[in-house]
Amino acid sequence: MRIEPAGRLAGHVTVPGDKSISHRAVLVAALCEGDTRIDGLGRSEDTEATVRAVRALGVGVDELDADTLIVHGVGLRGLVEPDEPIDCANAGTLMRLLAGILAGQKGSFELVGDASLSTRPMERIAEPLRRMGARIETTDGRAPLRIEGGALSPIAYTLPVASAQVKSAVLLAGLYANGETTIVEPVATRDHTESLLELAGARVERRPNGVAVWSCERLQLGALEIPGDFSSAASLLLAATLLEGSELHLRGVNLNSRRTGLLRILERMGARVTVRNPRRICGETAGDLEVRHALLVGTDVGPDEVPGAIDELPLFALAAACASGESALRGAEELRAKESDRIDGVATGLRALGADIRATLDGFFVRGVSGRLRGGLMESRGDHRIAMVAAVAGLGSREGVEIGGSGAVAVSFPGFFDLLETLRQPS
Ligand code: S3P
Repeated sequence: MRIEPAGRLAGHVTVPGDKSISHRAVLVAALCEGDTRIDGLGRSEDTEATVRAVRALGVGVDELDADTLIVHGVGLRGLVEPDEPIDCANAGTLMRLLAGILAGQKGSFELVGDASLSTRPMERIAEPLRRMGARIETTDGRAPLRIEGGALSPIAYTLPVASAQVKSAVLLAGLYANGETTIVEPVATRDHTESLLELAGARVERRPNGVAVWSCERLQLGALEIPGDFSSAASLLLAATLLEGSELHLRGVNLNSRRTGLLRILERMGARVTVRNPRRICGETAGDLEVRHALLVGTDVGPDEVPGAIDELPLFALAAACASGESALRGAEELRAKESDRIDGVATGLRALGADIRATLDGFFVRGVSGRLRGGLMESRGDHRIAMVAAVAGLGSREGVEIGGSGAVAVSFPGFFDLLETLRQPS
């Protein structure tokens, strides 16, 4: 796929439903009593894997249209052992959260993933789940995972890495552990699992540095609307910021402050973004965003800001590359354990387009070119977030960008390239 330079972007957009919440909505709805209607599901390869997984576990799912599902919940203990391994495809969130749920079910389960997911660390969930009494084996620390579900005991657990997926696996297992399971987080991570469990009637207590959950007998949701995905909106925010004369309106975006770190970083760099119509959707803060072109100046991002911007840090690299002055990212070694090594992927990729960026163990240093990058070939390495960075880089380049492996965008945002073309305007 080749992305030609754009003059400016303009238009009104509704981005797909939040991927993190979509996974959780389908998983928690499967554990509910009765039916849950989910509107605004972010349909993508990742969330389709979650729908397939719950179906394999005996849960009926009706697809009313592309983004509306009815999930026929089977109750907290109603999942059935499937005949075959459950394929989590590229979805780390699915594999890690489902492991927490299956630890408390009757039966044996095997979770497998694609080549990328099979390289990612899984001991980080296996270790706390074992402490709760789960029988769970990894394959040299990675997928495939084998789980023998059974009785669980509550634990008090301090997260060794700031990871919402690990926190969520323990919280979901905590629903089956008689008593109070507590989690301490060194840095706050996204809290969608907490919010959804609260909506479903579980006892959840937020604490200054963590959260507690109690075992429970029944969950019930009824109906849910999923707000737009800030991570998908973020590429459009940056594209409109970079292209002179742009003005984009993004409707119904999830603005949970534990997700919008990139917004704060871009605003510090000079971006012009206005929030309109703040409201609650699905127990989350949401709103409409208006973004206009702005000139950016470099900034430093440190470890405390990393969890809130984790999936958008590759976009920060591009913002920094086009800004004036220097930027740095520190404390983000977790980026090396994502769908690809995103520190290496983004540094190598942007350098090929003319950026001055140097990777470090836990981040990067960037000297901005104060304007458009030249362009060239950027490889996605099968990673949806890197493919989207390459596309935004292409719009804001002088010569265009060829994206190697552009199909990866379907993991989170299948209509991304078509949408960009509808927003492209002559300067
Ligand atoms: C996610 C948490 C983050 C994020 C991932 C989605 C989630 O991962 O990078 O894309 O839905 O909980 P970690 O929890 O591993 O940091």
